[in-house]
Amino acid sequence: MITIVGAGRVGTSAALFLMLKELDDILLIDIIKGRPQGEALDLAHAASILGLSVDIRGSNNFEDMKGSQLVLVTAGFPRKPGMTREELLEKNAGIVADVADKIKKYAPDSIVILTTNPLDAMTYVMYKELGWDRSRVIGFSGVLDAGRLAYYASKKLGVSPASIVPIVLGMHGQAMLPVPRLSTVSGAPLDTLLSQEDIEEIVEETVQAGAKITELRGYSSSYGPGAGLAVMAESVIKDQNKVFISSVVLDGEYGYKNVVAEVPVIVGKEGAKKIIELPLTEDEKKKLDESVNAVKELINRLPEKYRS
Ligand code: APR
Repeated sequence: MITIVGAGRVGTSAALFLMLKELDDILLIDIIKGRPQGEALDLAHAASILGLSVDIRGSNNFEDMKGSQLVLVTAGFPRKPGMTREELLEKNAGIVADVADKIKKYAPDSIVILTTNPLDAMTYVMYKELGWDRSRVIGFSGVLDAGRLAYYASKKLGVSPASIVPIVLGMHGQAMLPVPRLSTVSGAPLDTLLSQEDIEEIVEETVQAGAKITELRGYSSSYGPGAGLAVMAESVIKDQNKVFISSVVLDGEYGYKNVVAEVPVIVGKEGAKKIIELPLTEDEKKKLDESVNAVKELINRLPEKYRS
């Protein structure tokens, strides 16, 4: 069973994409009475119409997550137009701690993937609260940043996004670091295929993508996160060992420790199996330092217990 904690926009979108993949039964949990049950019922009807063999249930009882192999945490406040993800730090740290407590109790053998923002700091809170091996706690949003980079590059290149390997490193936030030199089409780096002006435009569009969606529709993105969660979940459930840019606790990789940042990670049934270290130029490393320092600053604003 796959449990999704948080039956809001991201959680229900993830449930929809997961349902279409018929990976496993799905449980939606939320603290709001009726919401997960109602969403699950609507999705179950959709599954019935599509002829899918998947059981979807909703609950307000965390005990129901017993036996989950995978827990997707999409609980927490989303940003509103004009807000940064970082402004959600204090409010969402409490929610993540609360959810971690329930996971520890009822799904002690699971892999946890979360979307709650600010993503990297929340992944660190989840990791500290669970006290598990770092491989079992993954922050999702690098898949989204990378997907957005591939999308904008594909528009300039006239190449399918599926044929682009996009690399974004560092923080999931304004300080993220798209790396055009390491993002390739059949091995050809983007910075050899596009003008400097086009590259700058693509990078800016990628960094601003979440804010743009929030501004345009009045609430933050959900289909992109839902789709990204579903492909990551598939890699865990089927032990596919696909590589995703995702936020994990670093222990010396890229020269950082006790911090979370987006890096390429092999994801399978044990979670984050291996971090891929990319060779960076001096300039790229300097920019990554700045990005990772932005995460460190957020972690330093968290209660003392998370910093030791
Ligand atoms: N336990 C379970 N569910 C909770 C808890 C909790 N302690 N606290 C809040 N929730 C639920 C809310 O009741 C709500 O249904 O989380 C859900 C969040 O849904 P939305 O408000 O629609 O937010 P969404 O857009 O889905 O974003 C969720 O993911 O991408 C991030 O920034 C985003 O932090 C946000 C999170």
